[in-house]
Order: sequence, then C-alpha cells, then structure tokens
Amino acid sequence: MITLKSIKQNEEVKALIKTTEKQIDALNYTEHSNRHSAIVASWTGMILREIGESAKTIRLGEIAGYLHDIGNAVSRYDHAGSGALLAYQILKDMGMNYSDASEIMMAIGNHDEKNGIPVSVISSALIIADKSDVHKSRVKDKHLTAETNIHDRVNLAVNLSYVKVDKEKKLIDTIIETDTDVCSVSDYFEIYHHRMTMCTKAAELLGYKYGLVINNVRML
Ligand SMILES: [Fe+2]
Ligand SMILES: [Fe+2]
Repeated sequence: MITLKSIKQNEEVKALIKTTEKQIDALNYTEHSNRHSAIVASWTGMILREIGESAKTIRLGEIAGYLHDIGNAVSRYDHAGSGALLAYQILKDMGMNYSDASEIMMAIGNHDEKNGIPVSVISSALIIADKSDVHKSRVKDKHLTAETNIHDRVNLAVNLSYVKVDKEKKLIDTIIETDTDVCSVSDYFEIYHHRMTMCTKAAELLGYKYGLVINNVRML
C-alpha cells in the first residue's frame, strides 16, 4: 500500500522537492519544500480524520498534501496543474490504481486560489491545510527592513498557526498568533483575502463553516 511514508522515501519525489526549492529561492518566495509539504500533509490528514472520513481518504489526503507543490519544480506558473500531472505519473509508477491517483491529481490541480476550486473532500481539506500554513519559519531572510515584501512581512509576524476542527459547532478554524509590531492584521487580509474566500468554499463542501481567529479575536 502506498502511504505518506513511502511517498517521503521516494527518490523521484525527493528530487522534485529539491528542484522546487531552487525555483522558489530564485523567485525569493517563502519556503515551499519539505517543511511546508510535511505540515500540509499532516493537517490535510488531520482535517479528514476529524470530520470522520475513511482511513483510505485520510491516506490519499496526506499524499496529496505532501505532493501538492511539486509543480513548482517545473514553474511557478500553473504549478498546480503541472504538479497534478507529475503526481499522477509518480503514483501510477508506484502502483497506485488509476482511480485513487486521479483523485489526488484533481485535488492538487485545484489547490491554487488563482484557478482552483474545492472539488472533493480531499481537495477541500488540502486547500484549508495549505492556506493555513503561514509562519515566520517560511521566510528565508528574517531581517525585517523597509524593503521586505508584504508576503515576507506577514509570514515573519506569525509565531503560531494551526487548524482546529470543532465537530459539534461544525467549524474549521485557522488559528493564528501574530506580532502586530511586525505587520498589521489588515496586511494579512490584504494578501490572503482570496485564500480566505477559497477556504470558506472548501469548508462548505465539507459541511462546515470556515473560521479565522487572529490573536484570539474571531475575524470570520
Ligand atoms: Fe501551491
Ligand atoms: Fe502550498
């Protein structure tokens, strides 16, 4: 059986994530490699587990989470589409059946807010996990200057972020603790507005409401 562990150990996946790092470094974007992949895999699995999905759906969700950004090895442009096709090929080569591999392909192909939409349970969990990973450890140059771009500034301010599922209230929250001396909450909204809209739609597909809590204040 193909699991998150076997995906992490796959040499082709390792090589693609390494190449992704190169591309992201050249673009001076926030970290998109092993750390982000592992966190998104874990949170996607956690969301699916908490909402009561099957062990198989959780396993496929974890794999989709780990592989979701490998398209950055090709190009940042349409990395969701290229990553989906790369993942499908790798999973087929590893012996995954067509139906499961295409579920993962579709979830990866729809994870980006520019052209993706929540299309399945796995896709929705992946979207919320991915958009919730905002953290200072993702910023390469941690020296805050007047030239620091807004993405780095928002990430640099975040000391803690995680996803919480409340089954009783049917609520999936992104919880963030941010240093408002580094960046204002409005900066966060400015760059993440589209992501929050996408998370709201993703949670709806799961039968949940999406929430955002910043510094203990509920924003959504
Ligand atoms: Fe992405
Ligand atoms: Fe991502």
